[in-house]
Order: sequence, then structure tokens, then C-alpha cells
Amino acid sequence: MRVFITTLVAAALSGLVLSAQTPGDATKGKTTYTERKCGTCHRTTDADQTGGKLATVLGDTAGKLSDADIRKWLTEPAAMEKSLPKKPPMPMSAYLKSLNPPLSQTEISNLVAYVRTLAPKAGPEPASR
Ligand code: HEC
Repeated sequence: MRVFITTLVAAALSGLVLSAQTPGDATKGKTTYTERKCGTCHRTTDADQTGGKLATVLGDTAGKLSDADIRKWLTEPAAMEKSLPKKPPMPMSAYLKSLNPPLSQTEISNLVAYVRTLAPKAGPEPASR
């Protein structure tokens, strides 16, 4: 009986975690990326001629970051910037703050899914560190 209850609780908890972070739609994320002008500072890949050179090539970093980290860059950029060796010339935190309306939860999930597809080999997220 005890095992049964534990299993039920575990199932309920994992359900909660799943619903809190519904997987995003990468195709919609691509549209959001354009609409929100992420390309002002970033390039998607080295071959991207339209993107800016003020920040990283997202395809390079996507393979090194977990989905949770990519999400955190979009929800708490100021905290993430503190982990950088030096302050970027064009901080993303200030940019995201200036967005009106701000990024919605759906946009964020879709952007995470899109950024994930930019990694040279789009696959499951790297094991969390
Ligand atoms: C004002 C310039 C600017 C804009 C616009 C911008 N970013 Fe950034 N972003 C940065 C900077 C600076 C960093 C820190 C890494 C670095 O030094 O390039 C960063 C980091 C990131 C990271 C962490 C990956 C990494 O390379 O460390 C992700 C993911 C990201 N941005 C996604 C986005 C998305 C999605 C958008 C559009 C909503 C966006 N950025 C818009 C400047 C910008």
C-alpha cells in the first residue's frame, strides 16, 4: 500500500513539473525570434549573414546550454550576465526589459525550442550540470 501511494505521489509531481514547462513550438519560436529582433545582437549560425555581431552565435552556445539555462537567459538575463567574465557592451537584460509587451511564457517556451534547433546536431538537451 505504501509503495502504491508513493508511486501515486511521484506520478502527480512529475505531472506538475511537465505542465509547468510545456515543450515549446520551434516553428513559432522562429517567428518570435524575428518579431522580437533577437538577430539585432545574435547570429543563429556562422552562416547567418543578417544577424548582429554584438553577442554570441546562438547555434554555438545552444549545444552547451541546457533548456533550463536557455530559459533562464530569457527570464533572468541580469542574473545570467553576472556569470559572464566581463559585462557585454549591449546587455540583453536591458533589451528584454525594454520590450513592450514583455516576452510571454509561451514566447519564451517557443524561443527555447527554437534556439535548441540551432545547435549543429539538434538533439536531446545535454545532461544538466
Ligand atoms: C541587445 C543585444 C541582445 C539582444 C537583442 C538579444 N540578446 Fe541574447 N544575449 C546578448 C548578450 C550580450 C548575451 C551574453 C552572451 C554574450 O556575451 O554574447 C546574450 C545571451 C543570450 C543567450 C545565452 C547563450 C549564450 O550565448 O551565452 C541566449 C540563449 C540568448 N541570448 C537568446 C536571445 C533571444 C532568444 C533573444 C530575442 C528575444 C535575444 N537573445 C536578444 C545580447 C542580446
